[in-house]
Amino acid sequence: MAIKVYPLTEADISGAVKAIQVAFADDPYNNWIFDKSKFDPRRNVTSLGIRCRWGIRNGIFHVAKEEGSDEILGVACWLKPQRVGHVTTWHDLFEDWRLWLNQVGMNLYYGRGGLNVKRYYIWKEAQAQAQSTVWTDPRGYYFLNIMVVVPKAQGKGVGRLMMEAVTDLADAKQIKCYLESSRDVPNMQIYGRFGFKFATELECNDDGIAIKLFSMVREPNAEPQDR
Ligand SMILES: CC(C)(COP(=O)(O)OP(=O)(O)OC[C@H]1O[C@@H](n2cnc3c(N)ncnc32)[C@H](O)[C@@H]1OP(=O)(O)O)[C@@H](O)C(=O)NCCC(=O)NCCS
Repeated sequence: MAIKVYPLTEADISGAVKAIQVAFADDPYNNWIFDKSKFDPRRNVTSLGIRCRWGIRNGIFHVAKEEGSDEILGVACWLKPQRVGHVTTWHDLFEDWRLWLNQVGMNLYYGRGGLNVKRYYIWKEAQAQAQSTVWTDPRGYYFLNIMVVVPKAQGKGVGRLMMEAVTDLADAKQIKCYLESSRDVPNMQIYGRFGFKFATELECNDDGIAIKLFSMVREPNAEPQDR
């Protein structure tokens, strides 16, 4: 059966959240930002669910499934490019407010669930700095926020299918793509095969306990990098 990429729907959310949790279980960024002894998987499910519902309305959130099956094999979450000078609409404000309210409700109900708030803001600051130097194109970037393929389906072209669902669109519109990877090996090589090139490192340093993220940019119609 063929594997296909579909827009994320409400019915997919539970499977998509599980796939993200499995693929990121030992991710360096997750290990740094969460205190694993206090990690609350139920809060994490709620948090990812809120993000997925926001993404269905505002982003480009995709799942990969075998035709005729409901099993989620991969998830890709993209933010749409925003032109410099983009005027915030009432809809944007409403969506920001809705996301914030849902997150506040979650924090009141579950607490922080092991999230290290200080580190969250260190990461946000490093991200803002990187983006302010790397994002030079006034037309904006398709920003790949999350991409995961469940372990049993990795290395079989599912990532490429999900990637091309958006890079083809970006090429047609001549828009650049951007991502931040929490691993250099093997992810930079994998993303290189899709035409991404290393742009800068984000160092997130909490009094000596540090991680690095690797930001990459893809020009329209970029050739794959050598292995
Ligand atoms: C990164 C990930 C999304 C890639 O998806 P995938 O389905 O495994 O990738 P594909 O099979 O489509 O392979 C894509 C390309 O990378 C290459 N590749 C795949 N695995 C590789 C590896 N371990 N090392 C080097 N290259 C690799 C493939 O050969 C392919 O190139 P080609 O089409 O030119 O031959 C997936 O492996 C994953 O979910 N990993 C764990 C979670 C994660 O790290 N997500 C990214 C967080 S930033």
